[in-house]
Amino acid sequence: MLGRKVPAVTFRTRVRDEAVGGPNPFRWEDVSSDNYFAGKRVVLFSLPGAFTPTCSTYQLPDFEKLTADFRAEGIDEIYCISVNDAFVMNAWGKSQGLENVKLIPDGSGEFTRKMGMLVAKDNLGFGMRSWRYAAVVNNGVVEQWFEEEGYSDNCDSDPYGVSSPQNILETLKSQKLAA
Ligand code: BEZ
Repeated sequence: MLGRKVPAVTFRTRVRDEAVGGPNPFRWEDVSSDNYFAGKRVVLFSLPGAFTPTCSTYQLPDFEKLTADFRAEGIDEIYCISVNDAFVMNAWGKSQGLENVKLIPDGSGEFTRKMGMLVAKDNLGFGMRSWRYAAVVNNGVVEQWFEEEGYSDNCDSDPYGVSSPQNILETLKSQKLAA
């Protein structure tokens, strides 16, 4: 993946818009991958599912808490992507009280498939989801790649470590020291 451009995809997001009125004032908003990635150095992390235990207890909240540290290492934004629709991702963000990390709904799995990271999780009744990985993406190009070991369909474990915010932060810090 190193040096490759992230796929050009349109994400179907839901945004609050008071002009819609009624009890559920949200509308669809299409957001292109360029909109997320062009002209920025970001950390993207991808996980098997919103609301799942490791993702909700460690990975997402830890990225949220460590955002200032990532900014100090030259990261403009932190994005969390999952093969979940915009309704689920919005509900997850709300339940986590997110202020920093931005959630990207890859409901159709198109981005994840084109990244080569789509795996079957039928063993859990999940269907097709993302293998756990993270990347530093600079102006749309993958600069650094953090993929959990054992990429496979219907994996009976859920490796988590390489793509943790702590590991990525340590890597960024050590690169700065070595430079
Ligand atoms: C977890 O994040 O803990 C998890 C992810 C996928 C399936 C089950 C659990």
